[in-house]
Amino acid sequence: MNTLYEGAFAKLNLTLDVLGKRPDGYHDIKSVMQTVSIRDDIELDIGTGKPWRLHCDKEGIPTGEENLAWKAAKTYCDIMGKDPGGLEIRITKRIPMQAGMGGGSADAAAVLRALNRYYGDPLSVLALAELGAQVGSDVPFCVVGGTCMCEGRGERLRKLPDMPDCVIVVCKPDFSVSTPELYRKIDQAAIAKRPDHRAMESALLAGDLEQVAANICNVFDPVVTSEHLELNYIKSVLHQYGAVGYQMTGSGSACFGIVSEFEIAAVLCAMLKDNYPEVFICKPV
Ligand code: C5P
Repeated sequence: MNTLYEGAFAKLNLTLDVLGKRPDGYHDIKSVMQTVSIRDDIELDIGTGKPWRLHCDKEGIPTGEENLAWKAAKTYCDIMGKDPGGLEIRITKRIPMQAGMGGGSADAAAVLRALNRYYGDPLSVLALAELGAQVGSDVPFCVVGGTCMCEGRGERLRKLPDMPDCVIVVCKPDFSVSTPELYRKIDQAAIAKRPDHRAMESALLAGDLEQVAANICNVFDPVVTSEHLELNYIKSVLHQYGAVGYQMTGSGSACFGIVSEFEIAAVLCAMLKDNYPEVFICKPV
């Protein structure tokens, strides 16, 4: 039996635009995604000689075939014609759940990377990302990581210059949002403000943190905020205590604030911890 170890990093959406509904029911999006240093740890036992098993240290995570990490392993083995001879996946969960931070997708991507390495890297990173699209819309980005422009359903990726060095405070409030429902709502909503991707790309190219922060924009943010006014409270704390940019990530419900120095992040963290147990300080990776 072999045990593989792989880190699964969370993502934030610096920008997120929904361009329209597709015939397959999904939506075309355009989003600058960024991996951050909040991570789950994945352990994979290969060749257990027993039926497949998945274990997670946090309650509330599905432990069967519906878990994206399981689905990733199954998809990889089916497509590549591999039989691991029994598999156990263990997940140490730190990425907040139902946060818009791609926790399940990150775990799936880590499983794909680990299995591909074990079998001698038969797929390139981009081919592995393409395979990941069959597991979930955010999986391709999580396979590649860093700073990327993601288009299509999320599977068309283009590497962008790294996000300038900074500190990011993430706060996960105690409610969750249904992603399919939110996509349905945005179909009805008039989108007042969309990301300026040209400006965001220039800011990244120039390594200009203030301009990156000025250009973060998520079309889902006002839709969710109008129904969950406590997001305004979180954003006002982020604003008052020195975040240069702040917004909700993905389909929520976590909000993040970009700050230039760790000391500011520490103060913000202390302020938010009074009301929210799930507050994190992280960095782009
Ligand atoms: O692919 P994933 O399972 O992450 O998507 C969850 C749901 O979010 C989909 O079933 C769909 O309703 C919605 N979605 C979408 N367009 C996308 C991504 C997700 O409509 N690009």
